[in-house]
Amino acid sequence: MSILIKNIKSLIQVEENPVNYKAGKEMQNLATIENAYLLIENSIIKDFGKMTNCPKNIEKEIDASHKLVFPSYCDSHTHLVYAGSREIEYKDKIMGLSYEEIAKRGGGILNSAKLLQETSEDSLYEQSMARINEIISLGTGAVEIKSGYGLTVEAELKMLRVIKRIKETSPITVKATFLGAHAVPLDYRGKQEEFVELVINEMLPVVASEGLADYIDVFCDKGFFTVEDTERILMAGIKYGLRPKIHANELAFSGGIQTGVKYNALSVDHLEFTGDEEIKALLNSETMPTLLPGAAFFLGMIDPPVRKMINSGLPVCLASDFNPGSSPSGNMKLIMSFGCVKLRMLPEEAINAVTINGAYAMGIQDTHGSIAKGKIANLFITKEIPGYEFMPYAYGSNLVETVILNGEII
Ligand code: NIG
Ligand code: FE
Repeated sequence: MSILIKNIKSLIQVEENPVNYKAGKEMQNLATIENAYLLIENSIIKDFGKMTNCPKNIEKEIDASHKLVFPSYCDSHTHLVYAGSREIEYKDKIMGLSYEEIAKRGGGILNSAKLLQETSEDSLYEQSMARINEIISLGTGAVEIKSGYGLTVEAELKMLRVIKRIKETSPITVKATFLGAHAVPLDYRGKQEEFVELVINEMLPVVASEGLADYIDVFCDKGFFTVEDTERILMAGIKYGLRPKIHANELAFSGGIQTGVKYNALSVDHLEFTGDEEIKALLNSETMPTLLPGAAFFLGMIDPPVRKMINSGLPVCLASDFNPGSSPSGNMKLIMSFGCVKLRMLPEEAINAVTINGAYAMGIQDTHGSIAKGKIANLFITKEIPGYEFMPYAYGSNLVETVILNGEII
């Protein structure tokens, strides 16, 4: 099936010569074509250009006058497979308890793990699909989903099987990450190494043999897993062909960023605690620094020094961290607004951060993250808006009108 989108007011993030990601000053470059057309054939972007060269007599035509076309968002960090919700802790937080305090008394991730252990695989799938359908309607076309609310062999596998089922049944592109070391269960308190052994010796081999994960993650931070724990788990994962993508420096200068770079992580994520040493480690690495401003906003945390990072020449990616404890939203447009308002990123930088840099951070930059010939036709048409800056600016409005995934209108 061919689809022609014509009279596009502005076609955003076009690439003649696709790049892997944008870094430093290049993050301000966002190529657009005004008064454009876009031709989709089967599931692929076949062609695009100025309306003066627009092809004729295509099976299905969509008029996009006064509207913009964007490549779908690539949300490279989420925990959207979870059971129930945690709004009770939200109240505790408002009353003054910190994320770490809630975790220490057995709440937080452990609370979600208990709920997930008691939830059937079918119900977990249904709950998660409702979130998937919501983010699709908000413009996300590719999403990374982590395990980590299981914390037992059985429950981790249940989570990962749900992620696999989403991959098979939803039009959204999915990457799965095994995050066995997300929190230390209460019965392993004081014997954390034993839990690390369980992750390495009991969980990982099954996850790998069933092909349930693309990447491996560890919550490397103060009060969670140490650099030593992290190194052991990453080395074991790498042996099974799982590249690291880790949680680092959310709660302290934990050494997580340097550890991620040392093991050639595809990304290190959160990074509220980033100093000169961390920036130095990231420069000349292949690791994408990924910021999760939804979590920093929701937990009232300090913001990472993003201007300094970009000005030093680093790329940055923005992701939602969609999860029940620190960021109960997968709205990538709102994440762009946080990027602009809280992190002082320019709209062009924020758009690059949620498209091409997000695609790199999940290993799909060859097929996703921009409007380029031969890439998968994952894109959305906006409502009538004046220009791309309006997207992060109008932070409370859903401006997505039509979603196309794999060349099909959703
Ligand atoms: O990315 N930091 C660790 N994990 C999640 C939070 C998970 C939770 O609180 O449920 C995060 O913020
Ligand atoms: Fe996270």
